[in-house]
Amino acid sequence: MLTNKRILIGITGGIAAYKSAEIVRSLRHEGAEVRVIMTKAAKEFIPPLTLQALSGNRVYSELIDIDAEAGMGHIELAKWADLLLIAPATANFISDMTYGKADSLLGSVHLATTADILIAPAMNQAMWKSDANQTNIGLLERRGVKLIGPEEGPQACGDFGVGRMAPNTEIVKSVIEQFTVQSLCSKKVVITAGPTREAIDPVRYITNRSSGKMGYAMAEAAIEAGAHVTLISGPVSISPPERCSVVNVETASEMYEASLTACDGADIFIATAAVADYRCETISSKKIKRTADTITLKFKKNIDILAEIRRANRDLYMVGFAAETENTEINGYQKLRSKNLNAIVANDVSRADVGFDSDENEVHWMTRKSVTHINKKLKEQLARNLIAKIANEINTISLCERHF
Ligand code: PMT
Repeated sequence: MLTNKRILIGITGGIAAYKSAEIVRSLRHEGAEVRVIMTKAAKEFIPPLTLQALSGNRVYSELIDIDAEAGMGHIELAKWADLLLIAPATANFISDMTYGKADSLLGSVHLATTADILIAPAMNQAMWKSDANQTNIGLLERRGVKLIGPEEGPQACGDFGVGRMAPNTEIVKSVIEQFTVQSLCSKKVVITAGPTREAIDPVRYITNRSSGKMGYAMAEAAIEAGAHVTLISGPVSISPPERCSVVNVETASEMYEASLTACDGADIFIATAAVADYRCETISSKKIKRTADTITLKFKKNIDILAEIRRANRDLYMVGFAAETENTEINGYQKLRSKNLNAIVANDVSRADVGFDSDENEVHWMTRKSVTHINKKLKEQLARNLIAKIANEINTISLCERHF
């Protein structure tokens, strides 16, 4: 996600400084080139050598740098960065930023850079709440500095409150978001995910192996792309992404009702859910006793959610997923046509390494005009690829509508 991006990390002197080492590692893992500036106080909390080893670059801390070209390291670093991330940002450094103090390398770089600036404040809860700090934060935000955190929780000093540095994963996600093109900006996207559950009696049901990972990854990627997402989820044990509306359902029929409501006024419907094709014709109101040697259950066909949603919404851009165990492409294409979809993502669910419940997937992205094979990758990465493809299709359609 961050290939070729240049991230300059400023570390200031707070206890959360030790967490910055992990941030450096994660950013490099995402492909970024990372350089680190430490304030004098930061070096008291974490040795520069750790950051040097993890970033693969020397650590900068002196304002006057005789090794730098023309002795102006701060200007070179300021120009080099695509993004300046200050994590942790102490109350003291935030105050320096507000007043434009340039008596440290990081202070000077902050003044000299034209790159976006993201800060992850970390301090005692009372300091965070203080009038002076809140005024400084407000001023920085008005200048366009972006904030991640702080969070509420127990603090190193024994206090409890808002002031903990945001978790590293959130900080890295926020860095990625700074570079993400908002390709679905303000689009209304409805996504179904997970399995459905069809009752047999009060204690038993039939379901399938869907974990919800693929659908939740699609929701996350659509949010990253700027969409307003409604996630309609069958029963799963993973947490939904933040910043989306979640509707929890159990049965296919509930999923249909929720989809119909959510698709009213929506731009895109993505059906990742593994919907039960059949339900019991009658659900026993009492637990079925273990008396007979064999029992017979009679099943009735469930509603085809995609087909019904299409009937009600002619202009909706609709993407299905096809779970196949043979002839993936051919069967996928048939579903694309029979359900009158704009695109379908066909995957082979007979494999153990992809499809149901695995962290990775490998698919064919199929429209009426073309098929693209997308190699095996993490569902999160795949979802970003698929959202980019959907955005590309949607934006092409609206371009055509504007011109003809
Ligand atoms: O959740 P994971 O563990 O991450 O697994 C991901 C996945 C394998 C579930 C996902 O990649 C996938 O393939 N989802 C589609 C599962 C499915 O039900 O496929 P299908 O070929 O039976 O149905 C085709 C399409 O019709 C799907 O978009 C489905 O949501 C939809 N459908 C199916 C039945 C029905 N009654 N109504 C529907 O709308």
